[in-house]
Amino acid sequence: MARYSQEIIEDVRHANDIVEVVSGYVRLANKAGRMFGLCPFHRENTPSFSVRPDRQMYHCFGCGASGNVISFVMQIENFAFPDAVRFLAERVSYALPEPGDAEASARSQARKERMFELHKAAARYFFDTLQTPQGAAAGEYLDKRGVSASVRRRFGLGFALWQPEGLLEHLKVQGFSPEDALETGIVMPSKRGGGYSCRFGNRLIFPIIDVRGRVVGFGGRTLGDGEPKYLNSQESAVFNKSRNLYGLNLARKAKSREYILVEGYMDVISLSQAGFENSVAALGTAFNAEHAKVLKGYAESVIVAFDSDEAGERAVLKAAPLLAAEGMRVRVLRLRGAKDPDEFIKTYGAHVLADAASKAVPYIIFRIDTLRRQFDITDIEGKIGFLREASAVLAQVDSATEREVYVDAIAKISGIERSAVAKEVGVLESRLGQAPVRRTPLRYAPRRKNSDKGAENARKNLIYLAANFAQAAAQIAKFVSPQEMGDPDYALLLTTVLECHSAGRDIVPAEIVSRFDELETQRKAADVFASSLDISEPHHIERYLNDYVRIIKLHNIEEALKKPSDDQSSAENLQRLLESKRNLDKLYITI
Ligand code: GTP
Ligand code: MN
Repeated sequence: MARYSQEIIEDVRHANDIVEVVSGYVRLANKAGRMFGLCPFHRENTPSFSVRPDRQMYHCFGCGASGNVISFVMQIENFAFPDAVRFLAERVSYALPEPGDAEASARSQARKERMFELHKAAARYFFDTLQTPQGAAAGEYLDKRGVSASVRRRFGLGFALWQPEGLLEHLKVQGFSPEDALETGIVMPSKRGGGYSCRFGNRLIFPIIDVRGRVVGFGGRTLGDGEPKYLNSQESAVFNKSRNLYGLNLARKAKSREYILVEGYMDVISLSQAGFENSVAALGTAFNAEHAKVLKGYAESVIVAFDSDEAGERAVLKAAPLLAAEGMRVRVLRLRGAKDPDEFIKTYGAHVLADAASKAVPYIIFRIDTLRRQFDITDIEGKIGFLREASAVLAQVDSATEREVYVDAIAKISGIERSAVAKEVGVLESRLGQAPVRRTPLRYAPRRKNSDKGAENARKNLIYLAANFAQAAAQIAKFVSPQEMGDPDYALLLTTVLECHSAGRDIVPAEIVSRFDELETQRKAADVFASSLDISEPHHIERYLNDYVRIIKLHNIEEALKKPSDDQSSAENLQRLLESKRNLDKLYITI
């Protein structure tokens, strides 16, 4: 099977932080810059599994499992290399090239590239139009809504005229025909005979930009009260409404792990202008499970700040469980005195919003609160009904400690005695039984019995030296051949490291690891870079180098001498081996 290019593999690896991915399987605790947890690959009671965020690698001091984020997924999900890459790509909604024959895939990729380019050119044109007299009305509309010039630029806001001639001319200059534009849906055949009209005519334009910064579609808002209020691009080869969140391209860069999820384009824009850079919105479709998966790639916790109307509340009840199901902490921000975050900021200011956000309630509390309003708890039947429903909600909470807190909350919210609430929750828990425990079978091949640990160690450390010191690498290239590494994996590793040096490329351990398809080779590579050799004293390097070269060569000679041989050349052979052994005594490499 064809391998993804190293660039793609690196893109995917970079997009998936190892701590986040591992945390989906292993509870990690921070100890002096390293994360420790119980190894998922062997049974243990004290944590010997470590993850280094700085190196994006993991290592188990117990069973020797080690590698980068791709190795981890291969090992824990039992995926082959390409499937692990696909799994991780999907996790962050990274668009991998289509499977299938290379030619078709290249064609469809080229077509997509053209679509991105066309959208970018159109976005540019709409943006420019907004700055011309013809865009004055839209400009005034944005003034009225308080959108600053810099925020207009940040989001690339624009304006579309009814007449598509200017747009088509602009596209033509960039090499796109009206048919190309038609295909994206930006223009439509004109209703009044021949020619075209713009789908977004007379609308304010919100370019929709994917996480990788490519324009994939547009949203258009009427300047007045026309219907529909918003018009969005149709889904296409480059635009999937469930996989894109408005604002994620910008929010992602802010690097905070707490996101604000809102309903509208204007909410995202207002929040951004007010300094809340981590807000995103679903695009002209309800927030769904796929959106939650995408967001999970970036957020640890989410504050849901939907519109304050009844529809907004219903939407929270749908969206929040989807976020929670992905393992994100979910809180709900109820906006009082404004219909949406945009209006809230305009009315009360950013500080009041920040304060309200800090007081956003955990989703479970929000859910219980909505339940309480559904039941008349002054009535005994209402009380029982409420308790049942509330307990069912609590049963979804995994942590017992957390559940205790919510039992308190239910008692407080409802005025029902705590013991009664606890009892009801207890009954439900026992009825649901215990959640199945994740089985993590031992997939690791037992370590090869090695008669000569010393030689193996020397090979590893020699590669480590080569990786860290260009001068040592140059000498190793001269004095040691890959075949002498005694093991095809180490031979390949040495070659790779030497190649990196001669190409002037940086040697990034986590990158080197995923040049290999086999988990065992990845483990060896990771092991090499996890060497505990002290290389802080440069004058030791030469000695190390000579020691390891000698150990390796001597080991090879001795192995050869051990081999039984009965043919004619055996005496000659013996002579040669003894000769090289003598030569070895004279060998001293200087760097
Ligand atoms: P403003 O009224 O300009 O503040 O917009 P808003 O962003 O607050 O919009 P609203 O709360 O009415 O709707 C939330 C989001 O739903 C919008 O940002 C759009 O993505 C989407 N939406 C609203 N109206 C329509 C519509 O008529 N058609 C489609 N396809 N989507 C809509
Ligand atoms: Mn709104």
